[in-house]
Amino acid sequence: MDFYEVLEKRVSTRKYTDEKVSEKDIEKLIDAAYKAPIGLGAYDNSRLTVIKDKSLIEEISKEYMQKLDKKADPLFDAPLLIIFSSDNKENDLRFQDAGCVLENIHLAATSLNLGSCYIRGVFHNLGDNAKYIEKLNLDEGFYPVSGIVIGHSKDELLGKEHTIKTNII
Ligand SMILES: Cc1cc2nc3c(=O)[nH]c(=O)nc-3n(C[C@H](O)[C@H](O)[C@H](O)COP(=O)(O)O)c2cc1C
Repeated sequence: MDFYEVLEKRVSTRKYTDEKVSEKDIEKLIDAAYKAPIGLGAYDNSRLTVIKDKSLIEEISKEYMQKLDKKADPLFDAPLLIIFSSDNKENDLRFQDAGCVLENIHLAATSLNLGSCYIRGVFHNLGDNAKYIEKLNLDEGFYPVSGIVIGHSKDELLGKEHTIKTNII
């Protein structure tokens, strides 16, 4: 898919079919993540966790729903979740790094005609003491920052019109 077509079609998907994401597509998504820029080139301070195990994705959703007394699944029953983690607690680079890496995955997913949605709420609200974190087998000192759910969208990817108030000087 042409790059500008990918930009036009990118949208946050919150309804997924049961179909799994193929191994070939997962490889492409991971490769897109590796191609992202990272502040100070600190790739070693970042980790990716690719969760194909639906029961773990559900466990994370349930922990969030219980803690926040919510009824709606915050991970939308998606078949794939990729979490960006960092061991940088000194400054805000981890948030910006997460944005770059996860947006690369979001765009790559769109180009593969897969739906995806950036997820901050779950990780922010569950925090660093959440139970699910020990299941991620992260290296010492690493904590989740944000994530992205991916799967086959129930709806066609059509994109949305957005503008940002812009001042050109
Ligand atoms: C940093 C960031 C955090 C986000 N966190 C969530 C989230 O936790 N849950 C969610 O459903 N969508 C989340 N989104 C998706 C936004 O709500 C969405 O991108 C925005 O409303 C624009 O809609 P669109 O992506 O469909 O064009 C997040 C997006 C960004 C960039």
